[in-house]
Amino acid sequence: MKEIKACIFDLDGVVVDTAKYHYLAWKRLAKDLGFEFHEKDNERLKGISRLDSLNILLEIGGVTLDNDEKERLAALKNQWYLEYIDRMTPEEILPSVKGFIEELKDSGVKIGLGSASKNANYILEKLGIIHLFETIADGTKVHNAKPHPEIFLLAAKELNVLPIHSVVFEDAEAGIEAAIRGGFRSVGVGNPSILGNANVVIPNFIGMTASKFYGMI
Ligand code: BG6
Ligand code: MG
Repeated sequence: MKEIKACIFDLDGVVVDTAKYHYLAWKRLAKDLGFEFHEKDNERLKGISRLDSLNILLEIGGVTLDNDEKERLAALKNQWYLEYIDRMTPEEILPSVKGFIEELKDSGVKIGLGSASKNANYILEKLGIIHLFETIADGTKVHNAKPHPEIFLLAAKELNVLPIHSVVFEDAEAGIEAAIRGGFRSVGVGNPSILGNANVVIPNFIGMTASKFYGMI
């Protein structure tokens, strides 16, 4: 085991089951614009910023819009997304992740959040898990979205650790790329055929313990 001083978690699809709500809100927007948005294309929208996601969605639908209209649609998507979030309960924290984070903290590892979302604080507060994170690097604090490493570099800086001593947990290909570009080790959470560039891929956190993790990274 190399020295691990910090773990930085992505939010959507790693800590909470919000990825499905992003998808449903984009799907509704696509429908309004007159085209279908399928789950197979949704992978491209994971991890990246709201506006970057909208641009990909519009490209898929072959729709061209000016910037004002894009801003309006991004706000509309977020309004629909937040309607889902408002109904969320702590059951939608992904299985076993909370206990795993608590165990890491108990073993002296610093915990940060590194998410493209501008709703991160709201979601963590609502689910009662904001206290787990020593720092929250989110979409409100950076200029460059994943796959740029800025968000993870900011989290590491705020935790006062070097990337080489930190591990990023991510469910998106763009997030793993950001981790690699920033010099972090990474754990992909999900499908190995999508997250194969990570150092390790796990399907989820069920059965994960701190000692198991130290043995695999
Ligand atoms: C990422 C999600 O965490 O946050 C993306 O994976 C989402 O799907 C992005 O577009 C931005 O989130 P928000 O909440 O600011 O629209
Ligand atoms: Mg994610």
